[in-house]
Amino acid sequence: MRRGFRGREYERLRGDLRRYDDRFDDYWGFLEPRLREAWRLLADDGTLYLHLDFREAHYAKVLMDALFGRERFLNELIWAYDYGAKARGRWPAKHDTILVYVKDPQRYWFDSAGVDREPYMAPGLVTAEKAARGKLPTDVWWHTIVPTGGREKTGYPTQKPEGVLRRIIQASTREGDRVLDLFAGSGTTGAVAAALGRHAVLVDDNPEAIAVMRRRMPQAQVV
Ligand SMILES: C[S@@+](CC[C@H](N)C(=O)[O-])C[C@H]1O[C@@H](n2cnc3c(N)ncnc32)[C@H](O)[C@@H]1O
Repeated sequence: MRRGFRGREYERLRGDLRRYDDRFDDYWGFLEPRLREAWRLLADDGTLYLHLDFREAHYAKVLMDALFGRERFLNELIWAYDYGAKARGRWPAKHDTILVYVKDPQRYWFDSAGVDREPYMAPGLVTAEKAARGKLPTDVWWHTIVPTGGREKTGYPTQKPEGVLRRIIQASTREGDRVLDLFAGSGTTGAVAAALGRHAVLVDDNPEAIAVMRRRMPQAQVV
């Protein structure tokens, strides 16, 4: 993002947040230049998805509003899962948040017909035809984590499930489009993009991630 683009509002918010949480400034200092660059590279009809831990999501929402403009906010997606130990002293935290912004609210690409549908929760309440077709996912996505020992599993510790990336890529890109993931990890974005006929540019600063991606996508060019 260029300095001056929503500059005053942005600096005020940033200052306010620094007072609330000193650690946040470091986090934002890390994330901000990457968000600016991703936004600069984003196509005019493109969409930016930021997948966050629930602890950061609210700060990031306010600051992304300031960086990109509140009118470019499209959705908050909740990816809900249910696995592992459960806290006893509070509601067990079993979701991640994905914030979605579009470069241009008038012309962004969103192909709801291209998204894999999911079963109705109460199929008896809709016609047999509708039940067979399934329903369009909402902004709350129940989806398992990558199953241990399953086909997808790469061994990379923070690997995300292909099903979550598939929805994103099906909805927000066309065949032949290019997808950028600046925190690629095991390369789930690239694997799904290739399967759907999209191109991908994947970035990660961890050599282990690069090794996993090489194994997962032997056809990929590594630079
Ligand atoms: C949550 S993981 C991504 C997981 C990925 N979606 C997958 O399915 O495997 C975040 C990744 O960001 C990478 N990362 C962290 N800081 C980075 C930086 N400054 N530059 C590039 N990559 C970074 C980490 O190495 C890690 O692989």
